[in-house]
Amino acid sequence: MLFLRLMKILITAGPTREYIDPVRFISNRSSGKMGYALAAVAAGRGHRVSLVSGPVAIAVPSGVDCCMVESAAEMQAAVQERFDAVNALIMAAAVADWSPVCRHSVKQKKSSNELLLKLRPVPDILRTVSARRKGQVVVGFAAETGNPEEEALRKLESKGLDMIVGNDVSAPGTGFDVDTNQVIMLWNGGRQALPCLPKTVVAEHIIGWLEQFYAKRNRL
Ligand code: CTP
Repeated sequence: MLFLRLMKILITAGPTREYIDPVRFISNRSSGKMGYALAAVAAGRGHRVSLVSGPVAIAVPSGVDCCMVESAAEMQAAVQERFDAVNALIMAAAVADWSPVCRHSVKQKKSSNELLLKLRPVPDILRTVSARRKGQVVVGFAAETGNPEEEALRKLESKGLDMIVGNDVSAPGTGFDVDTNQVIMLWNGGRQALPCLPKTVVAEHIIGWLEQFYAKRNRL
């Protein structure tokens, strides 16, 4: 029956921010376009989509339930709260990996001295939820600046994922803040390298893979 194939999918998108003081933060170049394309495509195909999004300048696709967050800790809490109720997680967010050890409560005054920042790593959201899953399909992304396949394979295994989407974010027309992406999808026993395509078309491939994997795993 077709409706049994419809999933509840949790998707994360965009960057996270780690504040140094009330006006300055550490973040990254993610625009959220890939994660929002995934949410739009999944909702368009009839799935129930929850989006956990960092700060982006994109409208929430219609029919998608969205929770806006800023820091990695907020994203982790939002993902953990929703994870048990979904069939699949696609972690497309670019989590800012380090957070200042000390967050100043008032704006720091500029001085001629160097500012030394001590940073500590934020929790790995994907690794944490993947370790406690109960049948959810878990998909990650690997943003690389060289060797996307090798690095993506390493992350597929070390984070215990069902599939990983690797891309070289330093190549022209792919990665951050453009409407196209060139990715390789890797899973246990398979791979599919796609040409440079609009992010919505890349999203169709990823959601299509997820639908097939979910149906096969659950014999639907
Ligand atoms: N990720 C996560 N939590 C983090 C960092 C990354 O959940 N603190 C997820 C990302 O959303 C992505 C996957 O892990 O789906 C890989 O992220 P990436 O930035 O490519 O790699 P890292 O795990 O951060 O490793 P490295 O910095 O060594 O490349």
